[in-house]
Amino acid sequence: MNYNIKDKIRNKLSNREEQSSLRSLSDNSNLIDFCSNDYLGFAKTLPCKKSTKQGATGSRLISGNSSQFESLEQKIAKFHNAESGIIFNSGYDANIGLFSCIADKGDTIIYDQYIHASIRDGIRLSNARSFSFEHNNIDGLEKKLQQASGHILVAIESVYSMDGDKAPLEKIVAVCEKYKANIILDEAHATGVLGKKGVGLAQSLNLESKIFARIHTFGKAMGCHGAIVLGSKDLRAYLINFARSFIYTTALSEHNLNAIQSAYEKLNDAEEIIGQLHDNIGLFQSLLSKNLQSKLIPSTSPIQGILVPGNKNAKKAEVELQAKGLDIRAILHPTVQKGAERIRICIHSFNTKEEIKMCVECIEKLII
Ligand SMILES: Cc1ncc(COP(=O)(O)O)c(C=O)c1O
Repeated sequence: MNYNIKDKIRNKLSNREEQSSLRSLSDNSNLIDFCSNDYLGFAKTLPCKKSTKQGATGSRLISGNSSQFESLEQKIAKFHNAESGIIFNSGYDANIGLFSCIADKGDTIIYDQYIHASIRDGIRLSNARSFSFEHNNIDGLEKKLQQASGHILVAIESVYSMDGDKAPLEKIVAVCEKYKANIILDEAHATGVLGKKGVGLAQSLNLESKIFARIHTFGKAMGCHGAIVLGSKDLRAYLINFARSFIYTTALSEHNLNAIQSAYEKLNDAEEIIGQLHDNIGLFQSLLSKNLQSKLIPSTSPIQGILVPGNKNAKKAEVELQAKGLDIRAILHPTVQKGAERIRICIHSFNTKEEIKMCVECIEKLII
């Protein structure tokens, strides 16, 4: 056995290289954006308010709290028709904090097989039993609910980040009510995108009162950083006491809070821009040939995936599209299942008709 850690690291990287799945960092800021989660262009247009303090100086429980934090949480909770909310430093932090502490030994967490890595990591840190169910499959969920014990939590996303499809929330609410299961809904890709003023999936269906906890993240359509967990006042108090990613970290800075506040102010007035986003999604789909439509993963969200099976093929498509000036990324195995590798096109409100036409033309030429 070779116990040299440097060799181990090199070998693992070499394996990834061989499988064409090596991740690396790139700066494509000169390309046309069909890649970012800045669906409404807020990251480019939010006003930068001056802050009096550079950093929060400590955890919320020590020196990092402020009246600005508390009033922002109340405003956001009101916007989303929730009793209460607590801000975390990111969606990742919110999910690991919430899932790691919400269920104990003897409880059960059931999650959609396509759930985000941050929720999986939170579940791994929890002492509860956990089961996955087939993506968006209600019968599959019900079978797992029948096997559950203790307090039951069901983790789903409004819009799935790799396929861009929506959860069948009405059906999930109905089956969860039958088994007294509590739904935790990650609204990351629905915030700013679904419902009037971008309130998210639960509110667009008037189902917010049926959801135990909702996570809205600010790093996607809101164009900034951070996340809020919405729920009851008791849930807020519980997370302040038990969510380790809330307790043991420096709080967001005043800059961040100003940006989040500006983003929510903008949402109040964003009907036109959200309409433009959905028009652009419709335009993109209407321009696709029958052949490409057959490879398109069904989605009405800004996330549009076109299947290009095989890591090598998907990576090649990415390189060629970037050479044409389009920032489009391949999604490779192991992020998605083998055979479901794809290019993922993120549509924005600010993409012009010409850019969308060019994007489709380039993909048509590449994918036969
Ligand atoms: C569904 C979902 N939840 C949570 C996160 C994490 O959010 P953040 O980027 O704010 O950490 C992401 C981001 O990739 C996501 O797609």
